[in-house]
Amino acid sequence: MSQSLTIRRPDDWHLHLRDGAMLRAVLPETSRDFARAIIMPNLVPPVVTGAEAAAYRDRILAALPAGDAFTPLMTLYLTEDTDADDLAAAHASGLITAVKLYPAGATTNSASGVQDFDRVRPVLERMAEIGCPLCVHGEVTDPAVDIFDREAVFIERVLDPIRRATPGLRVVMEHITTSNGVDYVLAGDDTLGATITTHHLVINRNHILVGGIKPHYYCLPVAKREEHRLALRRAATSGKSRFFLGTDSAPHTDALKENSCGCAGCFTATNTMSILAQVFEQDNALDQLEAFTSLNGPAFYGLPANDAMITLTKGAPADYPSKLDTTDGPVTLFDPGYALHWRAS
Ligand code: NCD
Ligand code: ZN
Repeated sequence: MSQSLTIRRPDDWHLHLRDGAMLRAVLPETSRDFARAIIMPNLVPPVVTGAEAAAYRDRILAALPAGDAFTPLMTLYLTEDTDADDLAAAHASGLITAVKLYPAGATTNSASGVQDFDRVRPVLERMAEIGCPLCVHGEVTDPAVDIFDREAVFIERVLDPIRRATPGLRVVMEHITTSNGVDYVLAGDDTLGATITTHHLVINRNHILVGGIKPHYYCLPVAKREEHRLALRRAATSGKSRFFLGTDSAPHTDALKENSCGCAGCFTATNTMSILAQVFEQDNALDQLEAFTSLNGPAFYGLPANDAMITLTKGAPADYPSKLDTTDGPVTLFDPGYALHWRAS
């Protein structure tokens, strides 16, 4: 007997769409199921000014398949030179929804990120004043800190001091990967939320490293121990309003992933809703899926939930292609390692 679930149309609160040919290839994979997405600004060069965000938004809208209703929610990439007036004007006009903080060198295309957090303090204060949320890539870049500890150390050394120094600043901890992240969010107040990716609910660090190195499971923040994955599963399926979906779907061509210095990023846009339905079903929490994908995010950002609905139906295994073809080369889809029985329509 087929089983189905109808929920409000989901949003993706952390998405990499890239630009040019890659944008044209990956955007339909998101706009098929999702109504809105927070668009990451880590292009080369990054999206730093309101004018750059407006131009990028226009390129996204021009690449949107006819008939798809999708709204890109733009962000600015915070640098030590960010102009607070430009940021405030972009926020007031509705052009941007949030600002993204990358510690310099933390991840793909983050060279222009912040090195000295004191230098962005005035901008953060302005953001708190105008109610513009800060999306944070929460990893320290100190070479002395083990890569598996970088999130926990960031919370202690950087995030907590920023939040104490800037009361009222709304912060989204992006793509949390540890129980430390979960606990910090739960201990916080209503100004704090967190996104969780699809892939971090499915893989732990063994998936990357056991039985040969699996470049398509390598992303940043890197997946951690099983106990952390289980903490993320509990958080996502709890229905608690502070946790919402941010896929961090981050396409790189196979040539760049299957490389002696492979890029970080999992491409999950195509099969995310199918995987999530299965994950929530496994945890007897299908009744919480809508909160995670469609309700908690808008509530945090002060936006209405979508009126449109999406139906997920369980049946024979869904036959997703293993790769998405782009004119830049193939991009491998994230493989959860088991057959997927839910599909969205
Ligand atoms: C992202 C990318 O490829 O842009 N990669 C990733 O592993 N998530 C950058 C990021 O969000 O860290
Ligand atoms: Zn990302």
